[in-house]
Amino acid sequence: MKVAVFGAKSYDREFFDKWNRTPQHELVYFESHLTLSTASLAVDYPVVCVFVNDILDAPVLRKLASQGTKLIALRCAGYNNVDLKAAEELGLTVVRVPAYSPHAVAEHTVGLMLTLSRKYHRAYNRVREGNFSLEGLLGFDFHCKTVGVVGTGKIGAIVAKILNNGFECNVLAYDKHPNAELKELGIRYVDLNTLYAQSDVITLHCPLTPETAHLINATAVEKMKKGVMLINTSRGGIVDTQAVIEGLKSGHIGSVGLDVYEEEGDLFFEDLSSHVIQDDTFTRLLTFPNVIITGHQAFFTQEALDSIAETTLSNITSFEQHRTCDDKVVVTA
Ligand code: NAI
Repeated sequence: MKVAVFGAKSYDREFFDKWNRTPQHELVYFESHLTLSTASLAVDYPVVCVFVNDILDAPVLRKLASQGTKLIALRCAGYNNVDLKAAEELGLTVVRVPAYSPHAVAEHTVGLMLTLSRKYHRAYNRVREGNFSLEGLLGFDFHCKTVGVVGTGKIGAIVAKILNNGFECNVLAYDKHPNAELKELGIRYVDLNTLYAQSDVITLHCPLTPETAHLINATAVEKMKKGVMLINTSRGGIVDTQAVIEGLKSGHIGSVGLDVYEEEGDLFFEDLSSHVIQDDTFTRLLTFPNVIITGHQAFFTQEALDSIAETTLSNITSFEQHRTCDDKVVVTA
């Protein structure tokens, strides 16, 4: 099928071309993100392939449908950027990659935790400048610390197991659908207020939904332990960034590790090193020595990119052959 791949980077081309073996599909790569003004690039493309920061609201979907698009193939797991109701009304099928190395995201999450606790980001710079002083680098053991995991699906469950089995942390969890395997490991499900009150470290792994939007706001921060470490590798909108900045300034929040940011659409995945960043909230975050930010790279491993390309192309093939796809990959409102 003819596929318009939006927001395509060199690594997307590499992995999609590698897995498009026969070749099965005619892949045309566009560097631009999908927006209302770039949607016209997809005229007569039955398939549009997109990533996390492409815009798929009702006007964009209407335009795509009127131009002949039938399938939206997300090359990611999250689908908070798609107006699913509009897609359904327009007869557009939306598919995604439900799991592509949840280990990649879980391991990156733990990497952020250790970086913040042992201050690797500061140590790296110091040693390169010949500064071997340990002043200001004092960390803490994760062993026996209480870690609260919000959302124990595929990624959260792996994070919980790494911390429980490897670091011997006391892991608390919150999810509407508790995971029986985690319970057997001794991980305790508690309500959110208990998790906030008892956790030394809180890590977010729930999806962004109307219910979880700004879940971490000023009220939630107030309920947390003084000095708490907050990690978000899920979706930026789950955290009210301003509330976190206030928490950092007052010292109530001890450290923050982010792989996602609520306004990341204007920043992440692009080289802006020669530009003046206009987002004052983001630049304020960058000034804290106890904040580390990565630009939505938690998923970015070879294993995950292989899996994303293979599953996305197989989703497109299933749609072409049956005009339908496996229930596990179809996303509905
Ligand atoms: P999943 O669907 O396997 O797990 C999500 C879990 O969150 C489920 O157990 C669900 O019951 C729970 N949940 C739903 N609403 C909740 C609520 N209100 N409070 C607490 N828990 C709630 O998803 P998976 O694969 O574990 O991914 C989690 C999130 O990670 C995704 O939604 C996505 O936004 C993000 N992600 C980030 C990546 C990155 O590179 N930074 C890459 C892949 C996913």
